[in-house]
Amino acid sequence: MSEIIHAIRGMNDILPDEAKLWTLVETETARLLGEYGYAMIRIPVVETTQLFSRSIGEVTDIVEKEMYTFADRNGDSLTLRPEATAGIVRAVLEHNLLYDGSEKLWTLGPMFRYERPQKGRYRQFHQIDAEALGYGGPDVDAEQIVMLARLWKRLGISDVELHLNSIGDADARAAHRAELVGYFGRHSDVLDDDARRRLHTNPLRILDSKNPAMQTLVEGAPRLIDFLGAEAREHFDGVTALLAAAGVAYVVNPRLVRGLDYYNRTVFEWVTTRLGAQGTIAGGGRYDALLQQLGGKPAPACGFAIGVERIVLLLGEHGVAAAPAPPDAYIVHAGQGAGAFALRVAEQLRDAGLAVLLHCGGGSFKAQMKRADASLARFAIIVGEDEIGADEVSIKPLRESGEQRRVPRSDAARALRA
Ligand code: HAM
Repeated sequence: MSEIIHAIRGMNDILPDEAKLWTLVETETARLLGEYGYAMIRIPVVETTQLFSRSIGEVTDIVEKEMYTFADRNGDSLTLRPEATAGIVRAVLEHNLLYDGSEKLWTLGPMFRYERPQKGRYRQFHQIDAEALGYGGPDVDAEQIVMLARLWKRLGISDVELHLNSIGDADARAAHRAELVGYFGRHSDVLDDDARRRLHTNPLRILDSKNPAMQTLVEGAPRLIDFLGAEAREHFDGVTALLAAAGVAYVVNPRLVRGLDYYNRTVFEWVTTRLGAQGTIAGGGRYDALLQQLGGKPAPACGFAIGVERIVLLLGEHGVAAAPAPPDAYIVHAGQGAGAFALRVAEQLRDAGLAVLLHCGGGSFKAQMKRADASLARFAIIVGEDEIGADEVSIKPLRESGEQRRVPRSDAARALRA
């Protein structure tokens, strides 16, 4: 016998029991996003490599080290999407979706990053991503955050903290950058190779270094929030005032800069202490320059993405289980012509809106009844030669006491409902 083939490291099968929780998370989130006026968009998993290098930034961990990039048969450089924002913005520009001025969109699906796999960090992972495009005010930043707070409540997630920061506009970042280069330059002996390389290309990215040896240095670095211009300051005050009005607690974290280059002003992350090192369950912020940067007319925008695997892990920590959805009935059948008769009964009940499992694979009544019981169905429907002759079915309650009884086939749906 040949050996079985294994899945790729960091790319997981979601087995049926766990998939139920995924469905719960996805349906709750889809409903919530709909309630807040977000429309779904579906975009490709593969895009041109350029799209990501131009938006996320050439000198970022994602673009430098984590992308699944390959040449297709035509020699074009393509990349498995590491995130969804760039693709949504591309689609919005390509289809002129902002002709009305604004659009709220969301999507979900797999993303790919070549990271070192561990609990909560995978190479194929899933995001639910929401973007509000064409909105410049602090109201939309605050609303997205408030919406997430509501989502946690609906999902039964507590123990999450909102980290908030403003990284200002381009001028503030330029001023801050000069300070950063000076600061890190004075401590170049502590910098690792990555940081030394980034010192003159993208010093902001040194701030999200995970290297423990550099943490003290990073802690002491000049903070972007101290460089904010008046408008960015006012915007940030607007966001915090609205959060306070909505009763959503936050921690201003001046060290929060996010790992992607397209952000400006508001950035935020929802963090839990329950998942160890991979505690960020959602992150996002404002990206007012990205549309223009990708060739469109200037338009402000703000968005976030939720890490579905981390939410599911967290629900597990909270002991949340997806409620099973047992069928209304399980049909067992044996004898001459029983298969065809049982199939007619099953389809008739399904026409009436009932959830019905039809036994497949034969076997004795006794063995089939065991299956019926294990399915958690409320009733077994029994079809034998007697029933077929009389155009009837037998109904046996499985979850409560009560006699087995015979009813005309045409009455079966009503009898199950009674
Ligand atoms: P991000 O912070 O890179 O942002 O990812 C968002 C979330 O995706 C993270 O908070 C985390 O929950 C999850 N995530 C990221 N990488 C992994 C991984 N390797 N394994 C498991 N989960 C992961 C973005 O992607 C931005 N596009 C968010 C955004 C939308 N900003 C504006 N609009």
